[in-house]
Order: sequence, then C-alpha cells, then structure tokens
Amino acid sequence: MIGSINHIAIAVPDLGVASAQWRERFGAVVSAPQRLPKHGVKVVFIAASNGKIELLEPLDDKSPIGKFLERNPDGGLHHICFDVPDLIASRDQLLATGARILGSPDPEIGAHGKPVLFVHPKDLTGSLIELQQA
Ligand code: CO
Repeated sequence: MIGSINHIAIAVPDLGVASAQWRERFGAVVSAPQRLPKHGVKVVFIAASNGKIELLEPLDDKSPIGKFLERNPDGGLHHICFDVPDLIASRDQLLATGARILGSPDPEIGAHGKPVLFVHPKDLTGSLIELQQA
C-alpha cells in the first residue's frame, strides 16, 4: 500500500531563518517559499539525494502548525509523507481499519500539486503520516 518516502516535513517558527540555516550549515539548495492557504502553511523544499525535506511555517493564527509550534517552539519533526499508487484505495483501507483521516476524507491538493490526505496520529503510532498520490 505505501511506496517510497516523498518528503519529511519539519515545522519551523521562521522560514527565512530555517532556510538560511540549512543553506549555511549543509550547503542545501532551498526552493522559493510557496504559500498554501488551504493547508495554512508556507513551505520551502530542500532536495536530498533520495527525497525531500519540507520546512513549514504557519501562515496565520489558525494554522494547524501553530499549535505544534506552541509545544515545540524551536520547531520539530512534523510529518512523513509517503507516495501511494492509489490514494482512494489507501484511504478506504485506512477507514475500514478504523483509522481516521484528518479533515475531509476527500483528498486535497498538496504542496506538490497532487492529491494528499493525512492520517490521524492517534490512529497511527502517534505520528502524523501524509499520503500522496504517486
Ligand atoms: Co507534507
């Protein structure tokens, strides 16, 4: 059901500071910031040789990332995203096994222009997992 890791997302309080740290400390190539109002975040991507790191900053007070940063003011690991070959089949399997989907069970378009959904962390090892249509 799950394929390769697409990205690992880290929530940060300040995207500019975080981008500069990754550039200076690793020589990382950081993308231009992208605003995703539907997800309440501003993101940049950092390419690793076998996947991506996504840095997330809250877009406003209502952002779901805001609560996370209240508990983790320096930032922290927020979610892991896996590619899946059939997102709807994956969703239906999750629901059939009693796992909840965060928000609407209908996938929304994520940061990569592809449909995504998030599994409730309480229903999956306490970790937020994003699934993205491959
Ligand atoms: Co993500």
